[in-house]
Amino acid sequence: MSTTALETPGAPQSRNRAGAGAPLALASGDALVLESLSRHFGAVRAVERVNLKVRAGQKYAVLGSNGAGKTTLFNLITGDLPPTAGSISFFGEDISGLPAHERIRKGLRRTYQSSLLFRQLSIRDNLFLAVRGVSQGRFSFLRASARHPSTRATGAILERIRLSHLAGETVANLSHGQQRQVEIGMALAGAPRLILFDEPAAGLSPAERRELVALLRGFPEHIGFVLIEHDLDIALRVSHHVSVMHNGTILREGTPDEIEADAQVHALYMGSDPAGDAGDGFAGH
Ligand SMILES: Nc1ncnc2c1ncn2[C@@H]1O[C@H](COP(=O)(O)OP(=O)(O)OP(=O)(O)O)[C@@H](O)[C@H]1O
Ligand SMILES: [Mg+2]
Repeated sequence: MSTTALETPGAPQSRNRAGAGAPLALASGDALVLESLSRHFGAVRAVERVNLKVRAGQKYAVLGSNGAGKTTLFNLITGDLPPTAGSISFFGEDISGLPAHERIRKGLRRTYQSSLLFRQLSIRDNLFLAVRGVSQGRFSFLRASARHPSTRATGAILERIRLSHLAGETVANLSHGQQRQVEIGMALAGAPRLILFDEPAAGLSPAERRELVALLRGFPEHIGFVLIEHDLDIALRVSHHVSVMHNGTILREGTPDEIEADAQVHALYMGSDPAGDAGDGFAGH
């Protein structure tokens, strides 16, 4: 195949938010369905009977304060942790019992709260390794020709994450924000159908956050994502749908407009009124 999964650009979003006013051009079907999913650590109910549905191509945000259970939820979806109870379906298939690498083969990807990049390698080499790691001949890490599909796929990802101009730069020399962009690129390797982003905006400067928002808003239509985010403003700007987690459960879910207007969300989570700017949920812009 000469095409890569990255060549279809995302639909232009004329409105300020992905979910406000713009018609949702989603691929058909459900990408991810969680049913009564739970994970307990002793007496701690980190995730408690969570029901959640992400449609194919949908951009979904999960908000919630520290310890709400967001990362644990991701660990269950990816298979890094087994659930205590409940089920996980991915594009119509029950994947609850599959090991993590089988879920990756089916097009599920994630990023972590802490970086897993090879810091002494260039951006291009990090991405190339990710591309080779999920391709058929995955034990061949030798430098490929410019026309090799893996080389071309690497180039497509570099463009997608807006770092082509720095392709040869060593990761250790990059800014925090650029490293986050590379991590997103790693998750784009192969043919992802749904990517889980665990707080990619954490620790970024306002300018870096704007770059991240632009990257997420320009995401291909056919690749959905679930974004864990503390910053309400970012979550609302890049997503079609938002869930708010609290003590392991989904406290609220709705469109960005519904979540923004929800007084309880503000009172419980953001520590501010909807018009205020003091709460951490409104930082960054
Ligand atoms: N491996 C573990 N063993 C025991 N308890 C755990 C484990 N992982 C998470 N927990 C607990 O589960 C709860 C949810 O943690 P989790 O990391 O999922 O929260 P989070 O929403 O991702 O928080 P943050 O915003 O700080 O990243 C917390 O009380 C945490 O201490
Ligand atoms: Mg977390």
